[in-house]
Amino acid sequence: MKLPSSSATELNKVNLEHMVSMKDFSVKEMDNMMELMSYLKKAREDNAIPQLFKGKSVGMIFEAGSTRTRVSFEVAATLLGGHALFLSPKDIHLGGKESIHDTSRVLSRMCDIIMARTNSPETLDGLLDMATVPVINGLDTRFHPTQMLADLFTIKEHITDGRQLSDLTLAFMGDATDVCRSLMLTCAKYGMGFKQIGPKKYQMEKEWVDLAETYCAESGGRIEITDDVDAIKECDVVYGDSFYWVTQYDEKEERLAAFMPDYVITEELMAKAKPGSMLLHCLPANDKEEVTRGALESNYSVAFDEAENRLTAQMAILVYFTHKHNITASAETEAMHKEKIEGFLSQL
Ligand code: CP
Repeated sequence: MKLPSSSATELNKVNLEHMVSMKDFSVKEMDNMMELMSYLKKAREDNAIPQLFKGKSVGMIFEAGSTRTRVSFEVAATLLGGHALFLSPKDIHLGGKESIHDTSRVLSRMCDIIMARTNSPETLDGLLDMATVPVINGLDTRFHPTQMLADLFTIKEHITDGRQLSDLTLAFMGDATDVCRSLMLTCAKYGMGFKQIGPKKYQMEKEWVDLAETYCAESGGRIEITDDVDAIKECDVVYGDSFYWVTQYDEKEERLAAFMPDYVITEELMAKAKPGSMLLHCLPANDKEEVTRGALESNYSVAFDEAENRLTAQMAILVYFTHKHNITASAETEAMHKEKIEGFLSQL
């Protein structure tokens, strides 16, 4: 059964207060965000971005390194007339001199949005406990929701032949990462096919597959977890991710031995996918490990469009949550405050 776009089903509820997990993200909200992305992308192409984050700030906690997430949020805030604060645990008191709860309370009183990339779910959950402004998960080992917006948007931009997302099957090559889990749940919500193709030891946990299956029952999505590389034959989108994360360097050799060479995305592997398939990769890519440079540079690769769409997504996220949570003052209210303050200053 395909999900009717106007139905008031579980998958179409609109109640996103924070952007944390793919569980609480509805199809309707993602569709709204992607429509917003398309307007903002066009505005950027025309050098005419409306200042919809003017005077606002996003406080960004980064427990782990980042290129795309950090740069895209910083640039998005600037383009929209606001400001992004880069807050590394080395520079603030988070979890050391000051608890995560108190950090969240203080940031909520000064910033309009909190964005966090954390090395553990506990940090993000601690921020959520006390935040009175929206919290955006910039990757927490479980989920990478901001990446999902860029990924779906990029796939939609490159779909050919009038096909819909629900006509496609995505093959995730590799480990059950936060991106893999997020993609599985997102594809399930959208009625897409999803296959994780990787060695048995690194396959997705059953509880998450079961959850995805409940979404599929409503959306018509299809989930398969397999170690059979030939499953790529039925796929329209091939997705790559690192075989290990920064917290898994001690497992690097064991992981590489398990994944290489069978699960490496090569030009030969891409040739086995359906004709016209596209290649996505969340990046950073290691072209000596999970993907070859040849595949990454081929004309079916949209990995760098995908990276650029991180910026498109972050603009939409900042605007969406500002609109939802902060009522921007009218010109009259602003003028009234200006007159009062200038009146006071003129008497000094
Ligand atoms: N894909 C992604 O999140 O990239 P960064 O780690 O560079 O932010």
